[in-house]
Amino acid sequence: MSDSLIQVRGLTRDYRLTKKREGVTGGLVDLVRPRREILRAVNDVSFEIPTGEMVGYIGANGAGKSTTLKMLTGILTPTSGEVTVGGLVPWEQRLQYTRHIGAVFGQRTQLWWDLAVVESFRLLQKIYEVEESVYKRQMETFHELLDIGDFLHQPVRKLSLGQRMRCDLAAALLHGPRVLFLDEPTIGLDVVAKENVREFLREIRDRDKVTIILTTHDLADIEQLCKRVIIIDKGQVHFDGDLEDLRVRVGQKVRLTVDLRESVASEVLAETTTGLPVRWETAEGNRHHAEFNRSEVAGGEVIKSLVNGVHVKDLHMAEQPIEEVVRDIYRQQKEPSA
Ligand SMILES: Nc1ncnc2c1ncn2[C@@H]1O[C@H](COP(=O)(O)OP(=O)(O)OP(=O)(O)O)[C@@H](O)[C@H]1O
Ligand SMILES: [Mg+2]
Repeated sequence: MSDSLIQVRGLTRDYRLTKKREGVTGGLVDLVRPRREILRAVNDVSFEIPTGEMVGYIGANGAGKSTTLKMLTGILTPTSGEVTVGGLVPWEQRLQYTRHIGAVFGQRTQLWWDLAVVESFRLLQKIYEVEESVYKRQMETFHELLDIGDFLHQPVRKLSLGQRMRCDLAAALLHGPRVLFLDEPTIGLDVVAKENVREFLREIRDRDKVTIILTTHDLADIEQLCKRVIIIDKGQVHFDGDLEDLRVRVGQKVRLTVDLRESVASEVLAETTTGLPVRWETAEGNRHHAEFNRSEVAGGEVIKSLVNGVHVKDLHMAEQPIEEVVRDIYRQQKEPSA
């Protein structure tokens, strides 16, 4: 094995499900002879993450993201496979391990519901044996970056979702862990709160070199924070690499918007790019849209043909957003012939 901070090899986790039979008779049969099935939620997942990297771990609902993170944090034991984080096996050396990591599961808080936020922090300080000077320094950072000062004395149950999430992040980092596992830390937050959380994560990544695995359904989180992404689908890794390579792999769809000086029939416009793989859409007045793929034709070539044929007032080219790129990957997997 290499010396990467996080090493995951052949990680697999099965869940046992009990399937209910229908009707009263079915219910009786279930009592005597329960029908069991095994669901492989995580299937032979391997990856390595070096110190200081922030990696997006993404996939559709039920893909196995949370199950993976639960094994990485030591909450769940795998069916098979190996994990080491900083040389420790999460589920074997749990107490020692929790001192080195922080975790946020956005779906539920780790804080004590009825305690004031600051009391939760004080408890965590005791549990993790954080020295007073370190505690003070961390709290200053959280005041500055997460702006939690106003509600420190409120019980957690009275906080808004955005406030609670910021407190959960602070709680996860209180003991200065080197590794942070984040399962949907921006779920349900408004645009401003999301931006605050992202800004904070950027800061701790760049300043403290915290190694972070981030799961999210908001691909803007990934675009803004992670250079590397791992895509998981039905428990298996389908892509592991640079976000930019992901675009290339799917093809680089470009959407072109053209404003013309005068009204021109769609057919006339389409003629200007005859012979080039450009798909024109129906026009809205003098504004026209087209799509092409950079792997098939260069943007410059499309524009040259266009300006040779019509009077262009303005034009704009936009790359396909990463959400769509990922959606295309899922679609390609569902329709392998396409
Ligand atoms: N405790 C459990 N018992 C049985 N099956 C489970 C359990 N937890 C998860 N699963 C199943 O395992 C699969 C993976 O679930 P997991 O929560 O890891 O997905 P996820 O990628 O986090 O999805 P989401 O985006 O919805 O959070 C799903 O099919 C889910 O129904
Ligand atoms: Mg999940």
